[in-house]
Amino acid sequence: MNPDTCWSDLRDAAQSLKSRHLSELLSDPGRFDTLTFEHDGLLLDLSRQRLLPETLDQLVALAESCELQQKIDALVSGEPVNSTEGRAALHTALRTPAGKSLNVNGRDVIAGVQATLTKMESLVATLHSGQWRGYSGEAIDTVVNIGVGGSDLGPLMTCRALSEYKPDAAQGIELHFVSSMDGSQLSGLLRTLNPATTLFVLSSKSFTTIDTLANAETARQWLIDASGLSVDVILRHHFIGITAQPEKASEWGIPSQNQLLFWDWTGGRYSMWSAIGLPIAISIGMNGFRQLLAGAHSIDSHFHQAPLRENLPVLLALVGIWNINLLDIHAHAILPYDGRLAHLPAYLEQLEMESNGKSVRLDGSETNGHTCPVLWGEIGPNAQHAFYQLLHQGTESVMCDFIVPAKRYTDRSTSLQQQHRLALANCLAQARVLALGDKALDEESAASAPPWKRYRGNQPSTVILLDELTPYALGQLIAIYEHKVYTQAVIWGINPFDQWGVELGKKMATAMLDELDKAQQSDTLDSATLGLLKRINTLREK
Ligand code: F6P
Repeated sequence: MNPDTCWSDLRDAAQSLKSRHLSELLSDPGRFDTLTFEHDGLLLDLSRQRLLPETLDQLVALAESCELQQKIDALVSGEPVNSTEGRAALHTALRTPAGKSLNVNGRDVIAGVQATLTKMESLVATLHSGQWRGYSGEAIDTVVNIGVGGSDLGPLMTCRALSEYKPDAAQGIELHFVSSMDGSQLSGLLRTLNPATTLFVLSSKSFTTIDTLANAETARQWLIDASGLSVDVILRHHFIGITAQPEKASEWGIPSQNQLLFWDWTGGRYSMWSAIGLPIAISIGMNGFRQLLAGAHSIDSHFHQAPLRENLPVLLALVGIWNINLLDIHAHAILPYDGRLAHLPAYLEQLEMESNGKSVRLDGSETNGHTCPVLWGEIGPNAQHAFYQLLHQGTESVMCDFIVPAKRYTDRSTSLQQQHRLALANCLAQARVLALGDKALDEESAASAPPWKRYRGNQPSTVILLDELTPYALGQLIAIYEHKVYTQAVIWGINPFDQWGVELGKKMATAMLDELDKAQQSDTLDSATLGLLKRINTLREK
């Protein structure tokens, strides 16, 4: 079938389903069994989506008409799927186990990946054993990751999510993350740290990102001032650089033995599996980091090999396509019911919106429908007291992802276990009310309520149920979202691996820096910018 026929069939299906409320669809007792999918301990529950099992067949037909399977083959075999930058996107290679090989441009990329993991391992062992020493000879006990976007969010999200998996050797090491260019995180933090025992990890694929370099400069100066030693000594003992641009890191002053490298075929927002994951390995140990990679690899194999109709990332993507392009839903909330996943919404905001926030297709033509929705989120129980009002009674249709582990605190106090039961109950109740509205109540009490107490329901949601939040399960979860993003990009015909949209702002900011210090601003500026610049400069002079 060609894609146009598939879209037209889907539009017909959407038309006939539009009038059917989720409460009606959920009255089918077999619905849970036909619309839940499982792989390797992870359950994807699509039963609260506004579709029928046969809708999934039609969506799969659409994916086939877009040659999804061939595009998956192209991704994992290292073809230049990032066509606007002329390179592969090989995050799957970063979690391929040792012993396999993959030749790209005459090089075995897996061998390179494994060599870097070995270097990371020895660095982590040096730190954990107290053998990495600062300028005074004391052991390093604090690590500060300086990076932004993909060089920050993945390690930050994962370290927070897996902080209970710290091995004994890592207990003595404190980890911090600094990203904001205005110095507000760093200025407060530096006041609390001991320079003699602090190591900075500069994480930047390009090693040109001004946010990161500005923070790095402040950190370097702080160490020089505190120690009274030469910059060379400071850089040797207190800085590690993680980058795909070793010359730039060397130019900044990072000695080559303190550099960990990755490759231009690793996209920034897909880089937590590379050396950028060093803070993760420091936090949960190299074994934990390898478990994370193994979980992601399990999903990579599934994505590559499972039939599309049983393929978890593909199904998640297709349900998104259904909501966005057929049901006209353009807001997507990420709602983890586990406080350890506090940074997951921010991580997925970058992954999805920087990847698929595009309106131009691979051939340069404009997309003919919506692409990535507006995505945001918060720890579910906290969001209940913030924006759930809008989900329940607002005017916007919103699709929600509930993410929750079935088990937690299995070896801890009963009151903590009780708290987890509370979170589970809230997760289930919210997904139920969003779907059914006040039809979750008996008909009489719903109908007798005043209008402002009515709930219309029919908000679609997906539940992703983990057995437990382990390094392996988190690896699976993130890989599912990565491949979801790729699948949607294939269907929309866009490149998910570039981010040209952020470039112009960066260039303009550099030019604006000069304007801030000029006595006379350039007359090529627009009146709004000019007005603010004058006002700011007047205030700064006071
Ligand atoms: O926001 C643009 C971006 O290029 C992201 O894609 C990337 O994750 C981030 O900046 C940081 O880039 P780098 O790792 O090169 O410092």
